[in-house]
Amino acid sequence: MPVSSQAVTVRAPGKINLHLGVGPVREDGYHPLDTVYQAVSLYDDVTVSTSAVWSVDVKPIGDVDISGVPLDETNIAVRAGRLLTTHHGIDRRAAIGISKGIPVAGGMAGGSADAAATLVALDRLWDLQTTDEDLLAIAAELGSDVPFSLLGGTAHGTGRGELVEQVADAGTWWWVVVPNAEGLSTGDVYRAFDARDPQPADPSDVVLAALAVADLGALAGALRNDLQAPALGLRPGLRDTEADLRDAGARATLLSGSGPTFLGLVDDQDAAHEVREAMLDAGHEGVVVATGPVAGCHLVDYA
Ligand code: C5P
Repeated sequence: MPVSSQAVTVRAPGKINLHLGVGPVREDGYHPLDTVYQAVSLYDDVTVSTSAVWSVDVKPIGDVDISGVPLDETNIAVRAGRLLTTHHGIDRRAAIGISKGIPVAGGMAGGSADAAATLVALDRLWDLQTTDEDLLAIAAELGSDVPFSLLGGTAHGTGRGELVEQVADAGTWWWVVVPNAEGLSTGDVYRAFDARDPQPADPSDVVLAALAVADLGALAGALRNDLQAPALGLRPGLRDTEADLRDAGARATLLSGSGPTFLGLVDDQDAAHEVREAMLDAGHEGVVVATGPVAGCHLVDYA
């Protein structure tokens, strides 16, 4: 394996939460979660090369609207790079190029994917040999969803979402993903949740049981997201998206994470494409098909 690569590209998947149980806010301001993550086939590709200064360049894949992505040092990919160099006590910088296939600010952890991919790519570019344990710890510092992006597959998430453990998933699941032109702030959705007299987070058992035996009907009945009601309260128009997905033939619907992306669970790949067409006909833009589970962050190119 060459240690003198000029550029390294790492692919990171977006995620959905098949169960998102949220409890009352903790003293540190975060909410305890009992969640089931699934990595799905919408990807960001992150390419890094050594440079005199940190920089970020973003290109869309397909119809993804990248206008909300920061291009300065507040971008989470730069924060990831800085944290990795601090961890190793080295003074290096990189140019970071992101090809974006994950909807921006959509509740699919696109920023977290970029952070995770940057960690893995820079580790390889500079041959840092960071341990998995350290990578996961740095990831958790960057955001609650970042460790899952490293892991991929299907996982049970606890703590504030940063404690992740792979679970049995015997299925290949098909989703129709309906982004929304206007992103939702995760913090705002959690605050709306707080105003609704929260109860302790519901456990993920029913979803985990359905996944283990690939029972589509059981999964369709078990999908649950405690952030859905507060997000719909902030954005009532999303109810129309949900109704359109049902009319288009989705077996079940679900808000993705803190939204506003909506998901339709469908029977198979053919149904996914039919439902996607119907959603486009109904006037929704940027609708894509995704399948899961897929792998977490992985190297796709080095030169
Ligand atoms: O961890 P991350 O930076 O992704 O979180 C973004 C925001 O989402 C936090 O500032 C917090 O407002 C909210 N959050 C939360 N509880 C969690 C995860 C996120 O309140 N478990």
